[in-house]
Amino acid sequence: MDIGTRLFRTALLGLAGNRAARALSERYGMKLGASRFVAGETMEEAIAQAKRLNAEGIAVTLDFLGESVSSLEEAQVSERSYKELIRMISHEGINGNVSLKPTQFGLALDRKACEEGIRAVVNEAAGHGLFVRLDMEDSPWTDATIQIVQMLQDEGFSNVGTVIQAYLYRSGRDVQAMTANKMNLRLVKGAYKESRRIAFESKQEVDDNMRRLIKARLDSGIYTAIATHDQRIIRWVQSYTRMRAIPRSKFEFQMLYGIRNPLQRSLAREGYKVRSYVPFGRSWYPYFVRRLAERPANVMFVVKSVVWR
Ligand code: FDA
Repeated sequence: MDIGTRLFRTALLGLAGNRAARALSERYGMKLGASRFVAGETMEEAIAQAKRLNAEGIAVTLDFLGESVSSLEEAQVSERSYKELIRMISHEGINGNVSLKPTQFGLALDRKACEEGIRAVVNEAAGHGLFVRLDMEDSPWTDATIQIVQMLQDEGFSNVGTVIQAYLYRSGRDVQAMTANKMNLRLVKGAYKESRRIAFESKQEVDDNMRRLIKARLDSGIYTAIATHDQRIIRWVQSYTRMRAIPRSKFEFQMLYGIRNPLQRSLAREGYKVRSYVPFGRSWYPYFVRRLAERPANVMFVVKSVVWR
């Protein structure tokens, strides 16, 4: 990553955590181009998009946007909303599951309350035969997120898994331990600002580690979601799984709503399992800013959509 891109990314990721900027943006609704990456502000809008994607052979994981809540009341709203979402997915016959963020359930405020809220959601999902993915947030929450998922698995829930980020040095060890425990994992490159003390900085190193982690998981035969828009990695996975005769039932590709749509469709047509991560809700600001930080060209897209509105 060149110095200009690194500074740009750092500045934007700083903005993602800025509460004033967040409040201001969210007050003005789904403008500023956010609708390219966010399915809508309501559950009904998200379900409509999920149906459209399902009709194209693409499964979904629905994310009721929210993170870093500042009160336990807000965490309870998250719990109620996710339970309602799960009932709606089941009632509407959507081919999908849900993704949630532990800080949306109060991880930063009260660990026990957070665990109870997430357990209630996982339990509700189990009753409907649905899966719950705990997204991985920034590094202060890595250990706790892994521990919560492990705790739920030890309690007998088989419908829960989490995410491992290839940019963290620790991830090789985490993948090894969680594969030994047969944990369902999503592998990603990583979307937050992390220090070089704990994370690879160069794209090449992150990509290399992503391939190492994917290979370890594919070789293990434990179900893995490979979440990337990187065509070189996707092509490599296709040829590696062909060469090793790894069945397509052992992995899926995941991409974000609104990104690389033709690639999502073409992989689904080729018979791969593809899942689109569909975020919705009013708290779209930090999610949106992380998408801008991933690709400088997205900022130009936003500028144009504001100017031409
Ligand atoms: P990379 O950044 O190298 O991009 C490869 C190519 O994809 C780019 O050249 C561009 O063409 C396209 N692309 C990538 N990002 C784009 C964007 N925002 N807009 C337009 N085009 C783009 N992270 C995390 O820390 N915790 C998590 O729980 C998750 N969860 C998650 C779920 C799913 C389904 C996906 C796809 C991703 C995540 N992520 C995540 C985000 C992830 O860590 C990473 O930041 C993004 O996926 C971008 O990295 P790529 O692997 O796409 O590669």
